[in-house]
Amino acid sequence: MKLLILNGPNLNLLGKREPETYGNTSFSDYFKSLEEKYSNIELSFFQSNIEGEIIDKLHEVGFSYDGIILNAGAYTHTSIGIGDAVKGIETPTIEVHISNVYNREEYRHYSYISKNAAGIIVGFGLKGYDLAIQSFL
Ligand code: DQA
Repeated sequence: MKLLILNGPNLNLLGKREPETYGNTSFSDYFKSLEEKYSNIELSFFQSNIEGEIIDKLHEVGFSYDGIILNAGAYTHTSIGIGDAVKGIETPTIEVHISNVYNREEYRHYSYISKNAAGIIVGFGLKGYDLAIQSFL
């Protein structure tokens, strides 16, 4: 089982960025705990602040991996290109948001990804990534 966690812009700052919304844990620390918990699966991680790199990564793994867990950050709400990439690949993609985007600003309520996602996990903190992994098992 090959799964990719793909994080978008500003998520490299997890642990430092708006801790009241996103918590105090860095993603690299959290990812280590996921690797330990799911040592039986091939779990990889990629983060980029650049829209095209996220699209390239979706193309790269999207015809061979078993699942993608995508938190596209703010691009969720703006990027037709990432939405089209999710639609165009074969690998099922779970959309994850750490915060509950529906009790935040109105501009966070629309997602270009949701329509083509296999599922959506919103508002469970970092645990959302774990829940997404479990959905593929
Ligand atoms: C986010 C929610 C987005 O609206 C925001 O731009 C992010 C993080 C989340 O995980 O809650 O960067 O995707």
